[in-house]
Amino acid sequence: MNNAVLSPTLLRPFDARRAVNLSVKTWFCIAAIGHGIFLAYILAVFYPPIAQSGLHGLQGLHLPAGFREGDTLGNLSAVAHVLLAAIVIGGGPLQLVPAVRRHAPNFHRWLGRSYLLAAVISSVGGLYMTWTRHTIGDLVSQVTISIDGILILVFGFLAVRNAMAGRFAEHRRWALRLFMAASAVWFFRVALMGWAMLTGGWGVDWDSFTGPFLYALGFGQYLLPLAMLEWYFHCQKREAGQGAQLAFVGAMVPLTAFMAIGIFAATMGMWLPRM
Ligand code: HEM
Repeated sequence: MNNAVLSPTLLRPFDARRAVNLSVKTWFCIAAIGHGIFLAYILAVFYPPIAQSGLHGLQGLHLPAGFREGDTLGNLSAVAHVLLAAIVIGGGPLQLVPAVRRHAPNFHRWLGRSYLLAAVISSVGGLYMTWTRHTIGDLVSQVTISIDGILILVFGFLAVRNAMAGRFAEHRRWALRLFMAASAVWFFRVALMGWAMLTGGWGVDWDSFTGPFLYALGFGQYLLPLAMLEWYFHCQKREAGQGAQLAFVGAMVPLTAFMAIGIFAATMGMWLPRM
């Protein structure tokens, strides 16, 4: 008889909590790879021209507004925005790796401060550009992305306040919410390109960058990740039932598969061709 069939590991009853953790770890590894590809795109596309030509480096880039003659504050915001995006997109996943927190606590603290500062400046600059430059989309996209900017500022403030008060469990929860809000722009690109690949872009008018799918995604880019995070917090509680935990895993599997498709589509259709 095959001994593996009777091995204690295989005979262990199904553990819903372990399934939750495994689904979240798998999601995180794939999301971290996707963040790494977006980071490579940001470093390759925006850093060289800006290092060479300063504000004028914005000219000729794939930006809805980019360089505008006479709009110094807008141009400065755009430059700071795309440069600091590297810290937000590269630093976010690194902050969440437990081994980094454990083995390099000083690095974790400094990266945390830089991440927060970069996210705050990017949000303030993003809000300024959204309402003064009228870049892409319509009022709905302006409002939905502005809500994200405000969420980043609020979550960042609460993460810092709880850390300073020594409430580290609360700090961790607000830092995770901050990560979801600050990465919403990444979720947006990945979900849009995944959707375009699977449906041919149903509900998207590419010329005006409006349409029912884009409106839903405008809110969904942060509401869905934040809702899944709250559900994960609930699953971690002692009193969480197996039903809720299994339903969570059941939702994570297709969402993670869709995210992986979206990362592939965004890499091949948006990021690689511009690098
Ligand atoms: C904090 C997380 C954010 C990151 C990492 C980020 C990243 C980026 C990147 C990389 C671009 C260049 C376009 C591209 O190549 O994909 C961009 C453009 C832009 N972002 Fe963000 N963004 C963030 C948050 C926001 C927020 C909260 C707003 C608005 C409230 C915003 C508004 C804009 C605008 C208007 C542009 C176009 C700039 C132009 O055309 O000159 N961003 N962002």
